[in-house]
Formats: sequence, structure tokens, C-alpha cells
Amino acid sequence: MFDGIANRYDFLNHFLSFGIDNYWRVQSVKALNLEKGDHLLDVACGTGDQGFSALKRTDIQVTGLDFSANMLSIADKKIKARNLTDKFRVVQGDAEALPFDDDTFEALSISYGIRNVGTIATALDEFFRVLKPGGRLSILEFAEPPGWFFGRLYRFYFDHVLPLMAGLFSSKSAYTYLPESVRHFPDREDFKALLKSTGFRRIGHKDLTFGVTTIYHALK
Ligand SMILES: C[S@@+](CC[C@H](N)C(=O)[O-])C[C@H]1O[C@@H](n2cnc3c(N)ncnc32)[C@H](O)[C@@H]1O
Repeated sequence: MFDGIANRYDFLNHFLSFGIDNYWRVQSVKALNLEKGDHLLDVACGTGDQGFSALKRTDIQVTGLDFSANMLSIADKKIKARNLTDKFRVVQGDAEALPFDDDTFEALSISYGIRNVGTIATALDEFFRVLKPGGRLSILEFAEPPGWFFGRLYRFYFDHVLPLMAGLFSSKSAYTYLPESVRHFPDREDFKALLKSTGFRRIGHKDLTFGVTTIYHALK
């Protein structure tokens, strides 16, 4: 599915979110408290936008990992076009079996990816394993906004408008899967409990844009 939507992915991200996705990424990067020289692993990096957002903020090294070859090939082109080959590399791999040693990274991010992995607990175990002790985790994910009025508006947009618009430019089924996968994702408190049982500490979350998106942050 992700290979199939890779070509139109960036355009649709900005178009369907009215450009707010850039702001959501900036907030998620802020939650990582990056310091010069840190090595950030961006899991499910897609076309690389989270890594670019992090590199705008601090002088760090970024490794992006994704299992979609087409997403990675677009990320790679963007890295070369921005002359960032010495700062940003991408590797193909699975979030549930990360090809890295224990205690490798100072920071780990995943944006709009955790909802898609096969077993969330397995991926979280892997994030914990590859982070250094004290390492920072930031997870950006869609959420169901609280409140009757905005909740209804959001569901109408997500369930009806978004798949229709996406169908004009890309795959309608991929964008029908999107609201379904958000509905099946654990709610805020359940997800934080999962982070706790993985071993993370100092766990918190921050709702953005009326709770359409949430940042979960934690420390190893
Ligand atoms: C909605 S996109 C998000 C891409 C990017 N992080 C962003 O914010 O634009 C989800 C990405 O997760 C990747 N993905 C899903 N499951 C994965 C897994 N188990 N391992 C690695 N990548 C995965 C997909 O290939 C896709 O690129």
C-alpha cells in the first residue's frame, strides 16, 4: 500500500492537512530536545520530512528507516537535492526488528507510523532497545479529538471528505484505511500505559490542533 502511494504522498500530506503537518512535525521534533551531535533514528520515515524538520533545528545525524522501497527512494532524492548526504541516510527495514545494536541512538521519532506496525508492543520494545539510556522518544500520531462538535466534524472529514479527495489524486483505499486505522489505535491513556509497560519513564502527551494529532514523549 505505501509503495503504491509514495509518488503522491508529500503532495497529499500537505493538501489534506491544509499544510498543518509541517507544524505538527516541528512540535514533535521540539519534544525530542535534540542537542548538537545527537544521532536521531526516524522510524517509518516515509519520504523523510520528519528528518528534514529535525535537521533544520539542530546539527545532528539522522538515520531514517522504512520498509517501503518507493518511499525511501523519494527520501533519498530529497536528501541529495538538499545536499544532506553527510547528515541523513536511509535504510530499508522493519520497525519490529530494527537492524541496529542496543543503546545506539540519543533520540528516536516515529510520525504517523506506529499505527501501521503489526504489533505495536514489539515495535516499542525495539525502540527501547536501540535508544541509549536517557534517550528521548517522540511519537506523533493521529488521535480522535475529544468533544462532541469537533469530534463529529473531524469524523465527517476523515471518513468522507478525505478518501474522496485522496481518490482523485492517489489510492482511495489507502485513505479509507487511514481513518479505520486511527479508530483501532489505543486511546491516549492506554497508549501511555503501553509505553510504561515497555519500560519508558517520564511519559507524557500533548494534543495538537484540537486533539486531531497527539505527540507522545518519553525517556528510556
Ligand atoms: C503514514 S506514513 C508516514 C511517513 C512519515 N513518517 C511521515 O510522517 O510522513 C507511514 C510509513 O510507515 C511505514 N511503515 C509501516 N509499517 C512499517 C514497519 N513495520 N516498518 C517500517 N516501516 C513501516 C510505511 O512504509 C510508510 O512510509
